[in-house]
Amino acid sequence: MNMLTFCNNIAAAIADATAPVIGTSESGRELYTGADGTPTKKIDEVAENAAIDVLRDDGRKILLVSEECGEKLIHGRRENVDEDDIDFTLVLDPLDGTFNAVAGIPFYSVSIAIGGYDLSDISFGFVQNLHSGDTYHAEIGKGAYCNQKQINVSTTRELQRLSVTAYAYRTDSTKIADLGRTVRRIRVLGSSSLELCYVAAGVLDAFVDFRKYLRVTDIAAGKIIIEESGGMVTDARGVPLHGELSITSRVSMIASNGHVHERLLNLVTDDS
Ligand code: IPD
Ligand code: CA
Repeated sequence: MNMLTFCNNIAAAIADATAPVIGTSESGRELYTGADGTPTKKIDEVAENAAIDVLRDDGRKILLVSEECGEKLIHGRRENVDEDDIDFTLVLDPLDGTFNAVAGIPFYSVSIAIGGYDLSDISFGFVQNLHSGDTYHAEIGKGAYCNQKQINVSTTRELQRLSVTAYAYRTDSTKIADLGRTVRRIRVLGSSSLELCYVAAGVLDAFVDFRKYLRVTDIAAGKIIIEESGGMVTDARGVPLHGELSITSRVSMIASNGHVHERLLNLVTDDS
């Protein structure tokens, strides 16, 4: 089975399992603190369990890194995991945009990245809007696609014409204000993995997140999809993103069409 079909099967299982509870207050009930340190809501658990069932049925030895359960070996030896013990690592956000899903805002997704042990070592990325079914994927060296049609980043070069998504905590709100004084528009949509795909497809020109809060589960798939569509991804200081595929890592991030990356960095440089 190819990776696209495999990821589509995971996404279909999550969409089926979550559809009945989207937009209900029960779906937002907090159950426990997930492995990533944030609350796991009912709908997050439903989504993750549906994905794990598909991974178990698949039969391969998978090191799963997922937002709620953390690291889990599927059909592998549990002690002293090394490269020979697994077929691949699968980095999963079963539901990216939980607030939107609970509120019934039709912008939430599943994000899946497949690779080895490091963020710089992802070979396949997949993001699906679980409401519309729009599906983005990229394989290293083979370009990026939306619904199987090749996508490219925008060609915008003037900062004044940029459409940007931007996340910051209150302490960094001046950076958002600086950005707002320069760019054409800011749109914050609530599902980072999908917003990264919007940059890859040229719908948005850039994505900035100053919070040092993004997890590998939010960005691993979006990163390869942007890079394969011709864009650029760094941390908020301009350093290429790398690091262990660990559920506890946190990063800041700037992703762009590449043409504006340097000037965008100068505008918002993270010197903290
Ligand atoms: C959230 C989304 C959102 C971002 C939040 C994340 P989650 O993911 O990616 O865009 O701003 O910080 O927590 O928690 O719904 O998987
Ligand atoms: Ca999530």
